[in-house]
Amino acid sequence: MVELIRKQVLSPESDPCTLSNYRQFQVIDTKLDLEVFFDSKAVGGSVTYNLQRLDVSADTIILDTSHLAIEKVLINDVTVDFAIHDVQPPYGSPLLFPAPQTDSLTAKIQFKTTEKTTALQFIDGNTAPYLFSQCQAIHARSLFPCFDTPGVKSPYKMTVKSPYPCLMSGRPVPSNAANVYEFNQPIPIPSYLVALASGDIHSLPIGPRSAIYSELPGLQACQWEFERDMENFIKIAENLIFPYEWERYDALVLPLSFPYGGMENPNITFATPTLISGDRSQVRVMAHELAHSWSGNLVTNCSWEHFWLNEGWTVYLERRILAGLATQEAVKAGKSVEEAATYGEQVRHFSAIIGWSALEATVELMKPEFTSLVWDLKGKDPDDSFSRIPYEKGFNFLYFLETKFGIEAFNGFIKHYFTKYRYKSLDSYQFLDTIKEYFEPLGKSDVIESIDWNLWYFTPGLPPAPGFDTTLADACYSLANEWVSYISGKSTEVPVTSINEFEPDQHSLFLETLSNKLKNVDREQARKGIAKFIETYPYYASNQNGEILSNWNDLIITHGGLSQDNEHVIRYAQWLGTVGRMKFVRPGYLLLSRNVDHDFAVATFKQFEAKYHPICRSMVQKDLKLK
Ligand code: BES
Ligand code: ZN
Repeated sequence: MVELIRKQVLSPESDPCTLSNYRQFQVIDTKLDLEVFFDSKAVGGSVTYNLQRLDVSADTIILDTSHLAIEKVLINDVTVDFAIHDVQPPYGSPLLFPAPQTDSLTAKIQFKTTEKTTALQFIDGNTAPYLFSQCQAIHARSLFPCFDTPGVKSPYKMTVKSPYPCLMSGRPVPSNAANVYEFNQPIPIPSYLVALASGDIHSLPIGPRSAIYSELPGLQACQWEFERDMENFIKIAENLIFPYEWERYDALVLPLSFPYGGMENPNITFATPTLISGDRSQVRVMAHELAHSWSGNLVTNCSWEHFWLNEGWTVYLERRILAGLATQEAVKAGKSVEEAATYGEQVRHFSAIIGWSALEATVELMKPEFTSLVWDLKGKDPDDSFSRIPYEKGFNFLYFLETKFGIEAFNGFIKHYFTKYRYKSLDSYQFLDTIKEYFEPLGKSDVIESIDWNLWYFTPGLPPAPGFDTTLADACYSLANEWVSYISGKSTEVPVTSINEFEPDQHSLFLETLSNKLKNVDREQARKGIAKFIETYPYYASNQNGEILSNWNDLIITHGGLSQDNEHVIRYAQWLGTVGRMKFVRPGYLLLSRNVDHDFAVATFKQFEAKYHPICRSMVQKDLKLK
C-alpha cells in the first residue's frame, strides 16, 4: 500500500488555529461563572482551571482571547501580572501569565466581553431582551479565555446570573441563589461546545428525556414539529452506536438571527426557527444534531483541519437514523420487514443524492484547497473553510468504506471506533490506523490495500462517484428533463406532470436539477422558459419552506433574467432580511449580486446588516467583497 503522507509525526496533530500552549498543560476541570448584563450588552465573570503540568520546562500559561477585557489573573488564589499580546488575525490576542513550577495549579481569570465579541448576539426578544452564543469554530475565545482548540477537553461546572431564564450546555442543577442558573457537564467537552442563552424562554416535553425550549408564542408549534420523532431518533442511534451518555437531549429554538440550521451544544442543541415549518419536513436537522452527541461531542476532531471527522460522521449517522425511521414507518404501514428495509435504504440513498448534488455545486464554488477532506489551516480562519464539503465528501468516504467492507462488518467498526475514542480528540491518521486495527484481523487487508487513501484525504474536487439507488429521485429527474426539453425547444408541450405528490426534499432536488441543466441551454430560451415555469407552478411563489424557497429563487433568478424591480426579486430580497441562517443568507446575496445587480445586493445587505449575527454579517461582507 502507498503510505499515507502524514503532515506531522505526532498524533493527534497539533492545532494551528490556537495561540495557546495547550500541549504543555492538561485541564483537569473548569469552572465558568458568568453574569449577563443586558444594559451594557456584555457578559462578565470568571473562569477557573485546575491544571496539571505536562511539560516541566513550561513557565508560562498562554490562553486564547479575542476582544476580551481581562481584569485580573490569580494563580492558586494569588493575583499575578499578565500580558495580552497584539491581535493576530484571525486568531485573536494571546493572554500570558506565569506558571509556578508545581505539578498542579489553579488559574482563575476575571474578564468581561466587549462590543466586538463575535460569539454573542444581544437582540430584542418577543417579550424581553435575548442573548445567545455561538462558539464553533473559534469564537469561544471571545466569550472567555481558554485553550480554544477541539483538542482539549474538560468537564465543566457552570453558573450564570441573569434577570431572565438561562440555558447552558450542561445538566441543569437546582440553585438557591436568586437569578442564578447552575449547570453541570460531567462529560469532558471542548471549548467550542460551551453555550449560553438567556431570555424569556419556556419549555414543553418532546419525549421521555427531551424538551423543546423557545420564547412564547410559538412554543407549541415547536413541540409539534419534533415530538413524533425525537425519542425514536435517540433509540435508533443507540442501537447503531451505544447508549446515549448525556442523560437528557433538549433543544432550544432560537430567534431568526441564529446563523446555523442547528448547533450541537451538549444537552441543549440550538436550532434555527426556520425548522418550524409546520410539516415536520426538517426533522433531519434534529437527527443530525442528535448524532453529534456521539460524533463530535464524544469523539472530536483534534483540530478544524480534520473537521470531516465531526461532520462527515454526523451526516453518515444522520442518514442511518433516517433510514431506520423510514423502515419502522413502513413496517407500521403493513410492509414486510424486507420491503420496509429496502424502503429505508431508498430513503437514505435519496438523501445521499441530494447531498451529492450539493457537493457538486460546492466543489465549483469553493477554493480547491478546501475541497479536500484534510485541510491545511495554518494562518487561516476556519470560518472561511466552512462549506458542505466536509459533510458530503466525508459522508461519501464513510459510505464508500461501508460498501468496501460490507455493512455488517462496518456496523461493528462503528461501535469500536466510538468506544475507542470517546472523551478523546483524534486526527484523520488515527482514523486510518483504527480502520487497519479493526479490519486486518477480520481478514480485510486486501480491501485496505486497495483503497487510495491519499486520494480521499488530500485530493481536491469530487471523490469517485458512488452509485446510489435513484428510486425516489427518478420522478424529480424526469420532470426536470421534461422542462429542459420544453425550454430548449426540443418539445413544444408544456410539461403537465403534477408536483402535488412531491415530498419537500423532492421539490428541492427537482428545482436544483433543473437549475443545473439549464446552464447548458441558450440564455434567451431559458429566460422565456422560466417565465412559463413561474406561471405553471404558483405553488412555489408562495412557498414558506426555506429550503424550497431558496432553491426556487436560485432557479428563477439564475436563469430568468429578472431585474431588481421584479416582484419575485423584491420579495426574495426582503425575505433575506427576515432570516439569519447562513445556509440561506450567504447564497442569497451572492445570487442577487451575480444575477441581478451587485449594487442592489449590497444595498439590500446594508438595509438588514444590523439584524444579522456578527458571524453571518462578517461572512456576507467577505462574500460581497465589502472587506
Ligand atoms: N456543527 C454544525 C454547525 C457549525 C459548523 C457551526 C461549523 C459552526 C461552524 C451543525 O451540526 C450543522 O452541521 N448544522 C447544519 C445542519 C445540517 C447539516 C443538517 C446547518 O447548520 O445547516
Ligand atoms: Zn453538524
